[in-house]
Amino acid sequence: MSHRTILPSDLGPTEANALLCGGVAPRPIALASTISAAGVRNLSPFSFFNAFGSNPPTVAFAPNRRGRDGTVKHTYLNAVATDEFVIAAVSHAMLQQMNVASAEWPDGVDEFPKCGLTPVPALFVESALVGESPFQMECRLKQVVELGSGPGSGLMLIGEVLAFHVREDCFVDGILHPDALDLVGRNGGAFYTRASGPAVFQVPKPGGRPIGYDALPEALKQSRILTGNDLGLLANSPVLPDLSAMVREPGDPVAPAGLDHVIRRALAAGDLNEAWRLVGLRMKA
Ligand SMILES: Cc1cc2nc3c(=O)[nH]c(=O)nc-3n(C[C@H](O)[C@H](O)[C@H](O)COP(=O)(O)O)c2cc1C
Repeated sequence: MSHRTILPSDLGPTEANALLCGGVAPRPIALASTISAAGVRNLSPFSFFNAFGSNPPTVAFAPNRRGRDGTVKHTYLNAVATDEFVIAAVSHAMLQQMNVASAEWPDGVDEFPKCGLTPVPALFVESALVGESPFQMECRLKQVVELGSGPGSGLMLIGEVLAFHVREDCFVDGILHPDALDLVGRNGGAFYTRASGPAVFQVPKPGGRPIGYDALPEALKQSRILTGNDLGLLANSPVLPDLSAMVREPGDPVAPAGLDHVIRRALAAGDLNEAWRLVGLRMKA
């Protein structure tokens, strides 16, 4: 399959935004709660958002200049005026109300009653927490990074987390469980992702230093049946077993293609030892 190469210099801000949003995806959504110097609350979603450090806990999001006319958003003005913000994670149950908050409400309008989400007093900041959110952070504004000056240019707000507020049921065996959080992410266009249920899976971390793809037997890498994921699972093994010592069992396939299929099956079942035994037979086939 060929690839299309696109240079930013050939794109307008709207096209660049569409490319970024489609390809840098799914992005977590920060429902940012702020308050103006005059004391009016604001609530708006931002998916140019992530965490960037744990010591101190640091997050950033970007209420950027409007693509239409380069003006700045209320969230940016409020955060810069007060040096604070609250970030509320967006669960699937909050999705449609979050969408109402994203509308361009006029200056001076409190978006909490508009979207029906519940303002709750925070501990360290004046900006309100969002009662419905399973995971929230009170933040002190540390730094503003301007990434240009034209329409659509980035205005990144970096904040230090002063307090986390996590719904109790989200802790399962001491970790935050995706099914309990049920967060949504933003893709390009009108696409969203739901990070729970069958969409969520686990990948164990490599233990120590794995053998690496380049240590795999060449015949395996040439297989038309084994996929990159299959080979990645083998490459992640802590040691390359002695393939010549592998013993055939009754019912084992004889042909290379048949062996590749059962290697795949063993890997899918999580049985790495069995997969390597079959790889040993494959080398002799
Ligand atoms: C899911 C979602 C994610 C969004 N992400 C961003 C973003 O990262 N940056 C941005 O400037 N606008 C983003 N927007 C648009 C803002 O929410 C929208 O401009 C809002 O009206 C800003 O409100 P404010 O002027 O009250 O701050 C997003 C909208 C939605 C629905």
